[in-house]
Amino acid sequence: MADAKDAPGNEGLPLCPGSALADGGTAHVWDVLEYGRPQRAFVLRFDGQVRAYINRCLHVPVEMDWLPGEFFDSDKRYIVCSVHGAMYEPEDGRCVGGPCGRGKLTTVAVAEQRGQVHWYPSRDIRPVPASPAAAADESAP
Ligand code: FES
Repeated sequence: MADAKDAPGNEGLPLCPGSALADGGTAHVWDVLEYGRPQRAFVLRFDGQVRAYINRCLHVPVEMDWLPGEFFDSDKRYIVCSVHGAMYEPEDGRCVGGPCGRGKLTTVAVAEQRGQVHWYPSRDIRPVPASPAAAADESAP
């Protein structure tokens, strides 16, 4: 599947300064719509690279951070679900331990350019309209 950020005309939406994401540190969390339903997403830095996922565990569909934006284990090596300890590889969201099976977290396309982190909506993962009035405008013919 092609990456959303490579799609023509997909300019990306600004998320946060790259300097806000320390390697193995606190994630930036934001709201998205996945298939039209409200979800939270998070972007963090691991091994120098920014990675983003939908904040939803594969074991039980709940948010995983143990404090807002805190996803890493104490060694800063894995993303860990705070509920039952499922462990995910930060590079690709793959489950590597605990009750999350063989799946992967849902990836959100992100990129860092000139010190700014952007995310790239896809057909399935869209931005939340800025206000109810904006949402009404978007649905108008
Ligand atoms: S809900 Fe995440 S490990 Fe159980």
